[in-house]
Amino acid sequence: MQRTYCIRIITLVSCCLAIATGQYSTGPGAGYDSKALESVFQARNLEFGFPTEHERERVLREGLYIPDSVVPLDVDVYYTHGDKTPSIFVTIPRFSKGVPFSLAYVTNEVRPNGTELRAYPNYEWHQSHGADCNGLTSVFRTQIDECGRMWILDSGEIDFVQHCAPQVYAIDLASGNVVHHYRLPRGVFKMNVSRFVTITIELDDHNCDVGHIYMADSIGHGIVVYDMATQNSWRIENKFTFPLQEFGTFTVAGESFELWDGSVALTLTPHGLSEQSERMLYFHSLSSDIQMAVPLRVVNNASLWNVNNWKPNDVTIALDQFVVLGKRGSQCVGTAMSETGMLLCGLVQPSSIMAWNIRQPYTRKNLVLLIQDDHRLQFVSGLKIVRNHEGKEELWAMSNRLQKAFGPGLNYKEINFRIQKCGIHELFHGLPCH
Ligand SMILES: *[C@@H]1O[C@H](CO)[C@@H](O)[C@H](O)[C@H]1NC(C)=O
Ligand SMILES: *[C@@H]1O[C@H](CO)[C@@H](O)[C@H](O)[C@H]1NC(C)=O
Ligand SMILES: *[C@@H]1O[C@H](CO)[C@@H](O)[C@H](O)[C@H]1NC(C)=O
Repeated sequence: MQRTYCIRIITLVSCCLAIATGQYSTGPGAGYDSKALESVFQARNLEFGFPTEHERERVLREGLYIPDSVVPLDVDVYYTHGDKTPSIFVTIPRFSKGVPFSLAYVTNEVRPNGTELRAYPNYEWHQSHGADCNGLTSVFRTQIDECGRMWILDSGEIDFVQHCAPQVYAIDLASGNVVHHYRLPRGVFKMNVSRFVTITIELDDHNCDVGHIYMADSIGHGIVVYDMATQNSWRIENKFTFPLQEFGTFTVAGESFELWDGSVALTLTPHGLSEQSERMLYFHSLSSDIQMAVPLRVVNNASLWNVNNWKPNDVTIALDQFVVLGKRGSQCVGTAMSETGMLLCGLVQPSSIMAWNIRQPYTRKNLVLLIQDDHRLQFVSGLKIVRNHEGKEELWAMSNRLQKAFGPGLNYKEINFRIQKCGIHELFHGLPCH
């Protein structure tokens, strides 16, 4: 009797807790122990390659390389036509002075703390640490488009000292040639405040023409739209590009730290779905749990916005066109969209890769945890979906234990930085990643 009673109580409690908080759905592979991403790169610390040993000693001596102050943020991947071994790129933003270069590629050189990284396009692009504004000052994220061009977003600041205007470079990866360059005008960024962290390209479906480029200013709490045809840009800033007080604290693996960041993630409705529904820009703030969307028709319409001249009080423009899709209950960092319209992101709590089908309501039941891994998915800041040499989509994720790097410090006896991957088909069908 007593026992039955207890069980009833427990059932009741768990039922009501579930209703109160809502539950995420688990992915098709949940429960299989083998369900984990495939590890591609792991490092206790980043190993930087320098042109000469003398140069390594110089930057160490001058405080331009401080080994305990480097944190990778993003990963990007490029499969040269037909080649099954991709080039892997990494960003290492200059949060502080001691980062020798902020955009790199992974070599085959195995070193004590991890595989060696080398500067991309080359070391000279990074060597001035903000003195030469034609070089790269601090790269947060990149996007490699389907036409083999890497779009590089450079925030222009080091620890909020604005050495240069934020800028975008596009480099054709096969030839190494710069194919586009745009410096943001003074009117669309906030000197010593803005931090441009994410770039998304609106590519024409049938050729390699670019329509608009979207850039997230996480600390300035806004989104900048750049129109390639007219070479104008404008700034979008309203209550939806801001953080929320309840989500300013991030807790990962039991450790907490504070971040007060607005807009971070920008993805677009895939071309394949644009006939069924209007194309949207999906976005969210980092210190928030709200998922937003706004039609491209609205954000791309220059006449609505104050071109090249953002006015600080103008937070009302087209506000009724912004859609609050729903709340997820935790923060999401790196974000990517699959060709079938699955929006993936690196969820903070629980540490996981979460998926949402953009055709369904944004409710807990429709938020699926594809992979949950408290150990190997600690702060997924970089997430990309790329097409491999066989034309199949793959997910690539960078995790960096930011809760330690921005908190008590990293433990260099452990693996801190990981790049992991999985085929999108395998991921969605619960099949092993490798
Ligand atoms: C590995 O990283 C640690 C922590 O930054 C550093 O003290 C050490 O010098 C590094 N080892 C090598 C061989 O670079
Ligand atoms: C930006 O910061 C630098 C260095 O602290 C300072 O010299 C400059 O006046 C600042 N500019 C503005 C517009 O705040
Ligand atoms: C752009 O906005 C203007 C001003 O509100 C409006 O008159 C025009 O119809 C819009 N264009 C499109 C293509 O929606």
